[in-house]
Amino acid sequence: MKVDVLLGLQWGDEGKGKIVDVLAPKYDVVARFQGGPNAGHTLEFDGIKHVLHQIPSGIFRPGTRNIIGNGVVLDPIVFRQEIEKLQQYKLDVRSNLFISKKATLIIPTHRLLDQAQEKAKGDDKIGSTLKGIGPSYQDKIGRQGLRVGDVLAAHFDEKLDKLVSAHSEILKRHGLAFNWEELKVPFFEAVEFLKGFRLIDSEYFLNDELKAGSKVLAEGAQGSLLDIDFGSYPFVTSSSTVSAGACTGLGVAPRHIGEVFGIFKAYSTRVGSGPFPTELLNEEGEAIRKQGNEFGSTTGRPRRCGWIDLPTLKYSIMINGVSQLLMMKADVLSIFKNIKVCTRYQLSDGTVTDHVPYEQIHAGIVPLYEELEGWNCSLKGLNAHNLPPALKNYVEFLEQRLEVPISLISTGPDRTETIYRFR
Ligand code: GDP
Ligand code: IMO
Ligand code: MG
Repeated sequence: MKVDVLLGLQWGDEGKGKIVDVLAPKYDVVARFQGGPNAGHTLEFDGIKHVLHQIPSGIFRPGTRNIIGNGVVLDPIVFRQEIEKLQQYKLDVRSNLFISKKATLIIPTHRLLDQAQEKAKGDDKIGSTLKGIGPSYQDKIGRQGLRVGDVLAAHFDEKLDKLVSAHSEILKRHGLAFNWEELKVPFFEAVEFLKGFRLIDSEYFLNDELKAGSKVLAEGAQGSLLDIDFGSYPFVTSSSTVSAGACTGLGVAPRHIGEVFGIFKAYSTRVGSGPFPTELLNEEGEAIRKQGNEFGSTTGRPRRCGWIDLPTLKYSIMINGVSQLLMMKADVLSIFKNIKVCTRYQLSDGTVTDHVPYEQIHAGIVPLYEELEGWNCSLKGLNAHNLPPALKNYVEFLEQRLEVPISLISTGPDRTETIYRFR
């Protein structure tokens, strides 16, 4: 069988958690392939609202095995907190959660380094989640990182000391003192806790599953416009958030990839710094933030809001090879009589283009909009056959411009508020 990939096409927070939870019963395995505790994936069902950070969003579905893949950076302290929060639901996490030994460990000094690096950048800061993502991926690429499998080795303490002293030198230069004796206590406790889980060679596990006919869903974190290579560099995260990242982040070959589900909001949001051509710094932006409850699931920061942006969506679709689109938060746009869609950009030299320019901050991008009639009504209880004509028109307009079918429309945060267009 194949690995289907579900990933965000914008700047994150598209609603990946909700949809992975909705789709999970169709899959035997759900596997996270990159990112770490910077992610906040929200699931809502039966009056429960739960935010997951590192644990895959298939965890609430009995019968679905969940894998934290090798491409993830895992913070043991956050992991322990997440598991403890899940305890109230009496899930069988010890038997249906598996963690790659090759996943990179986030240690407490990574978080301090993240703070120090952001502070040093001043006005140019990335707006990182301060979870230690950049520094832990730096250590991975710099070939000095620690991995989950190392916690089982006799010389783990030694390796850790070496890494902490390397960090200490850098932190000293930033004028940031820390007390390792204090920091290490909760870290070691969390590492012991982590050892109680199934630490595996997940690339073998997954390929054996595929051979045995299992269906696998790869769950992306962040979004394509935050990708380390293709996002709005340097205002990006430090991992490969695109579909190719599912291959390297899980150890599955490209020929095993099946559907690529590209998920996007019916408008745009971004949290943190960086270019955002369609950002609305007015009462329309405020209205979207209020209606969509656009505040970060991990940091609580208000999300920047704007109209949908087709040049960036086309770009993400191209890079990822998206085969199906899933449109989220259609209900939020119900507040508008008219809805704007950015179809092209005008650059400061007068060029009109639907390509994302290399230089986005100083290119003087002016979004060019086409205006469509809004549906301006509640979407509660609707199905694919009784959509308001204006919503149907919006969806068909996007499909025609993006050249990929929209197979699902989400009309609310709950599992049940999901409309399938083709079955
Ligand atoms: P993720 O990071 O991609 O998983 O997305 P987040 O969970 O960070 O943010 C999406 C937010 O929108 C969450 O609060 C969801 O509960 C909520 N949400 C998801 N789908 C819909 C929808 O169709 N309508 C509304 N109003 N909210 C939604
Ligand atoms: P989910 O998976 C939205 C943003 C941060 C910052 C930049 C770099 O919930 O969609 P990092 O901490 O990764 O070094 O921050 O990326 N960012 C996200 N924005 N959703 C996320 O994850 C994000 N993870 C990181 O705000 O701009
Ligand atoms: Mg999120």
